[in-house]
Amino acid sequence: MKSVLQCGLLWMLIIIMSSYANQIYPVIPQPVDLQPEEGFFELKPATVIVTDSSTRHLGQMLADKLMPATGYHLSVSRRSVGEGPWIELKLNDSLEDLGTEGYRLRVQADRITIEATAQPGLFYGFMTIMQLLPEEIYSPDTIEGIQWKIPCVTITDTPRFQWRGMHLDVCRHFMPIEFVKKYIDLIAMHKMNTFHWHLTDDQGWRIEIKKYPKLTEVGGWRKETLVGRGKSLPREFDGTPHGGFYTQDEVRDIVAYAKERFVTIVPEIEMPGHSQAAIAAYPELGNYDKQFDVCRWWGYGEDVFNVEESTITFLQDVLAEVMDLFPGKFIHIGGDEVPKNHWKNSPAAQARMTELGLSNEEQLQSWFIKRMDTFLAEHGRRLVGWDEILEGGLAPGATVMSWRGTEGGIAAAQAGHDVVMAPGSHTYFDYYQAGPAGEPLAIGGFTPLQKVYAFEPVPDTLTEQQGKHILGAQGQVWTEFILDSDHVEYMALPRMCALAEVVWTPVAQKDYDAFYERLTTHAQRLKLLDVNLHPLLKQAEKTE
Ligand code: ACM
Repeated sequence: MKSVLQCGLLWMLIIIMSSYANQIYPVIPQPVDLQPEEGFFELKPATVIVTDSSTRHLGQMLADKLMPATGYHLSVSRRSVGEGPWIELKLNDSLEDLGTEGYRLRVQADRITIEATAQPGLFYGFMTIMQLLPEEIYSPDTIEGIQWKIPCVTITDTPRFQWRGMHLDVCRHFMPIEFVKKYIDLIAMHKMNTFHWHLTDDQGWRIEIKKYPKLTEVGGWRKETLVGRGKSLPREFDGTPHGGFYTQDEVRDIVAYAKERFVTIVPEIEMPGHSQAAIAAYPELGNYDKQFDVCRWWGYGEDVFNVEESTITFLQDVLAEVMDLFPGKFIHIGGDEVPKNHWKNSPAAQARMTELGLSNEEQLQSWFIKRMDTFLAEHGRRLVGWDEILEGGLAPGATVMSWRGTEGGIAAAQAGHDVVMAPGSHTYFDYYQAGPAGEPLAIGGFTPLQKVYAFEPVPDTLTEQQGKHILGAQGQVWTEFILDSDHVEYMALPRMCALAEVVWTPVAQKDYDAFYERLTTHAQRLKLLDVNLHPLLKQAEKTE
């Protein structure tokens, strides 16, 4: 009886202490190891940020982040001057076990030290400091009368996965540059590091290609857009032209903006399907002797790229310009949802299949993707594509993004290929997160916050060795029914916060109740950042 009582008391104590830690240290994603300590560091106007010359720009970035809310113009210096208080950013090679993105953060009453082997780790350390401060630190306006206290703590932290991604479709609805930057800021704030930018589709081509200007002049605009899901006939259209594109200078600016925040952009150029906007601009790329418009409704377009050598050259020219703009290792070539009837009905495609000794259209698709894989590999890059690229045989260097469940990812990992898990079931943030009653029209599905949080990217059917091929996971925001950036925010957050913890935090430290408690503070930060997040719902149940 006594031991039952002791056990119960101990348990209660643990719960109280962990709730206390969640309130005092409301960091998302939850760090790997967090040791609470007594006392506080207080940020003062005289606090100095100490860096060496290679980390000075990060110190300045931290000073700039702390400035609006506090009104303090903290100095960034090479040396610790006087008795402190100071915040030191320090490169330390001995922390190599933490990788380039890990960091150690020590908060003491008179100083804060962030140490890491490389700049991304220091950056994530200071992102953690932001979340240890009162949430008002995210205010764009100076707030008087707040004590900018940071509770003492030692944190040792490093991400679970190397690919921590968010995707954004800017084709179905164009998103302005300012918003793309805000989205990148949100990615970085959650210690995610990959922005998958879906730049071309049937409904719009959104990136300037100098060699082929009609891609944006014609392919960047559609006459009008389907209203609603268009399930009942006759379909209704809004009668309003829609479009836009990013110039190469704008793309370079966004790539640089992302790089400063340690976010790599993975551009997606869809092929051979989802290509109607390109075919509308250059009809010779298609299979039919017909002029198509940029697609005005959802689903697949009416044509796919043909398999002529001239089309392969055209697309490789496009990829060459894309590689010039995006320095990251991965280039996404789409590869999803390629209706094979276009090639079946095309005498030219059938002749090409015979010439190549291929026996079906799946093999033709695989041949197409392999041509791009070889081209990208010759330029030192790696191809990534949606899981349909498995059909007809996977290209040697391909990384698979598994969206139709995790099966494609499992097959690819078993075959020794790298994989990014992006299953519709858990990571499609265009699905309903509540309701559907009372929610704005969405594409369907039901993926509430708790379901995202429960996602495990490494299926237990994989061996340990195969599991190493799972690079990470990614959240998708398709915008058929998301007309503007406010609505993107509503769909992406707070589910992005849950996914951040899926890809960063070790399984043993994951705890939905604790996450939700931290999220209530985190939501205040997001509101101060003017993010139109969905109201928090701990356990959303489907209403229809
Ligand atoms: C996809 O959702 N078609 C990748």
